[in-house]
Amino acid sequence: MSQNRIMWLILFLKLFLINEIRGNLANQVQDLSENFLANLEADPFLINNEFSKESVEFINQQTENYITLMKKKYGIKDRGINKRSVQYSEDFGSSEGSYSFQELSPLDLWIAKNASDIFFIQQNNTSYVLVLEKISTNNIMFYKQNGENFDVLFTQSVGAINKIVTYSNSKEIFVILSNFTGIFVHTVSNNNLKFMQKLKLQELSDIIVWENTNGLFLSVVREKENSTYTSTCLIYKWLGRYFDEVNHEITTYGSRSVTAFSVGSLDFMAIANYKDDEGQTGIYSEIFKYNVDTERYEPHQKLFTNGAVDILFFSLKYYGLEEAYLVVANSEKNENHIESIANSIIYKYVGKYFIPFQSIANRTDKWITTSEVQERLFLISLSKSEGVRAFTYDGWKFVAQDIKQLDNFQSGIVYGSFQNYTNNIILSKFGFFNA
Ligand SMILES: *[C@@H]1O[C@H](CO)[C@@H](O)[C@H](O)[C@H]1NC(C)=O
Ligand SMILES: *[C@@H]1O[C@H](CO)[C@@H](O)[C@H](O)[C@H]1NC(C)=O
Ligand SMILES: *[C@@H]1O[C@H](CO)[C@@H](O)[C@H](O)[C@H]1NC(C)=O
Ligand SMILES: *[C@@H]1O[C@H](CO)[C@@H](O)[C@H](O)[C@H]1NC(C)=O
Ligand SMILES: *[C@@H]1O[C@H](CO)[C@@H](O)[C@H](O)[C@H]1NC(C)=O
Ligand SMILES: *[C@@H]1O[C@H](CO)[C@@H](O)[C@H](O)[C@H]1NC(C)=O
Ligand SMILES: *[C@@H]1O[C@H](CO)[C@@H](O)[C@H](O)[C@H]1NC(C)=O
Repeated sequence: MSQNRIMWLILFLKLFLINEIRGNLANQVQDLSENFLANLEADPFLINNEFSKESVEFINQQTENYITLMKKKYGIKDRGINKRSVQYSEDFGSSEGSYSFQELSPLDLWIAKNASDIFFIQQNNTSYVLVLEKISTNNIMFYKQNGENFDVLFTQSVGAINKIVTYSNSKEIFVILSNFTGIFVHTVSNNNLKFMQKLKLQELSDIIVWENTNGLFLSVVREKENSTYTSTCLIYKWLGRYFDEVNHEITTYGSRSVTAFSVGSLDFMAIANYKDDEGQTGIYSEIFKYNVDTERYEPHQKLFTNGAVDILFFSLKYYGLEEAYLVVANSEKNENHIESIANSIIYKYVGKYFIPFQSIANRTDKWITTSEVQERLFLISLSKSEGVRAFTYDGWKFVAQDIKQLDNFQSGIVYGSFQNYTNNIILSKFGFFNA
């Protein structure tokens, strides 16, 4: 019963939204508005709560935040919106500020020729580069920065590898290799890869290593488990010498991608769900929030996605203000629109929730950012059909950037150009596009 009334309220909201975001803007933001409402309809807070004053207030707040965000993005002055709605999360500063357009110079794109994957690692102000070379065999080349150059620290032959994950903190550099037989955890020690542990897991589609105040963790999602798309996200905690499984009972549906992140003092994990056991790709992906009392990730928000293949968190500083985003790559079209194409949606973190912010046309297979290594963030779309595209934030929204592709990049690493990453993006030639 109560759920029914929430549905009516959301239906009413649709009319309100159409009215509030008028004219051209309504068309431009149509897919975002639909996504916003679909997410609201499935919000765990509303599902779990009786229809109450709080749930009405929650819906009002979310809606006002969304409308404010859209108006601000398109530079439309607010009239009827009250101040309360611009109350961004107390955990994460404010998104208010005076923005101006920033002149941007072209981005240099280097292709590492014989590399099938390439990773930049920093530890204690020293930079390292790991290159997976796939010539006749798979070789890992591990380089250490030496002034303007990178010297080979070691080379190691590895068997068939389909995924590498690197992670560093002040103590360790992790190099995690995986293939169809499992996950092989290594650390870099005495100029070598030191084998630590094997996790026997099959059909895994994504692995991440991340840290929060409770420790260092490894999460794994699988597209299928025991031949069903319904699976579980596995989480392991690092105990100094090995990863130990901790059960958070997170269900996933054909998941291809996972991301973990902190915003202010809150820890989140977001999982892209590709497909369920009915074969549906128009399903919800999910964001979980860590509960310090139960010591578990708990459902926080659902995002309606169409065959989500990638999800990535990133944050950026714009004139000193920190802003947090999630980007989801959809691989399927929105079934409601005949002329629609697979898009990506960028969500902005406002008041603890991710609100649809911008739609990026045409399929992206993988999103990467340069946020960790430089002040100016580049959001980069890798796509089999569209090639490489780069976007930067101009204070209002993400805008496409000119890319100058530099073909003469030699593998065997690297000129002074990585010294300061500001205008350089280095991609591997084979890894992604031949995947
Ligand atoms: C890294 O560099 C920064 C700035 O130069 C310095 O403050 C910091 O102590 C350095 N960290 C280490 C671990 O050397
Ligand atoms: C899987 O990768 C591990 C770690 O590199 C390697 O030792 C093993 O030989 C690989 N398995 C196969 C079947 O190639
Ligand atoms: C990095 O620096 C920290 C703090 O100075 C130190 O405790 C740590 O041992 C260093 N790590 C390595 C790998 O040298
Ligand atoms: C898959 O099978 C394993 C071993 O039988 C079992 O432990 C696990 O719970 C199963 N997973 C699902 C999602 O049913
Ligand atoms: C997306 O793809 C369509 C069809 O190939 C093309 O017409 C359109 O220009 C593309 N849009 C963008 C923003 O690349
Ligand atoms: C790439 O590999 C080929 C074949 O082994 C080799 O001849 C060439 O020198 C390599 N290129 C670079 C830049 O290392
Ligand atoms: C990189 O270069 C830019 C200007 O070219 C400079 O402002 C910035 O401080 C540099 N960053 C680092 C980490 O050296």
